[in-house]
Amino acid sequence: ARRIWLTRHGQSEYNQVDRIGGDSSLATPGEVYARCLPEMLLERLPLVGLERARIEEIVAGVAAGTGGPAATSAPDPNADPADPGPEPVPVPVSVWTSTLRRTIQTARYLPFPKLRWKALDEIQAGACDGLTYEQIAQQYPDEFMARCKDKLRYRYPAGESYLDVIQRLEPVIIEMEREKECIVVVGHQAVLRAVLGYFMAKPLASIPTLDIPLHTLMELRPRPDGTMDYEFIPIP
Ligand code: G3H
Repeated sequence: ARRIWLTRHGQSEYNQVDRIGGDSSLATPGEVYARCLPEMLLERLPLVGLERARIEEIVAGVAAGTGGPAATSAPDPNADPADPGPEPVPVPVSVWTSTLRRTIQTARYLPFPKLRWKALDEIQAGACDGLTYEQIAQQYPDEFMARCKDKLRYRYPAGESYLDVIQRLEPVIIEMEREKECIVVVGHQAVLRAVLGYFMAKPLASIPTLDIPLHTLMELRPRPDGTMDYEFIPIP
């Protein structure tokens, strides 16, 4: 792709209470981030003339709270995750999300064509899904220790390991490399660690602890030699 932006979903209801997994909606700070995202991207988009003017108009509507489906700053708990948001504008940018509400809601105000990938869903925590790390340590102490010892290979009971996630992301990464246009990936912490680790050629063992902060956009720009330049863009 000409340019790739990666971002985690905005803060979710589960993030607020430190629960992992699940399929919760955005919490208020996450909804605020979703509304900021179009503006954060706008200045970096390779658009000119009418295309740019059209996108600027939509983004101004989102910032003013008049664009998009929810015209308030509070998240709508009943928001339809299938709600596509503003009419997509045919420009060379596409938005990829997982199939989980929190990424779909975070991408909701981006006026670009959207694609949902099951392969972008968060690491499946199996028996530990919906628990806090404290509860995992109490209820499954051996599992907790095993994960601390080898986070890359550790597989949750009836769930996945980081190695599993890296493997299932392969088709997504192949498409990212083939894609001629720009891609905005709205994903999850574990999945974005794997994507970033791949593009930045990080050692496998470092992937499960890469820093992927919430409410931060990451920009990847291909260099002529095939490697990538990389920049963190915090919320303005
Ligand atoms: O399970 C959800 C988390 O985003 C993954 O984080 O691999 O550091 O536990 P973790």
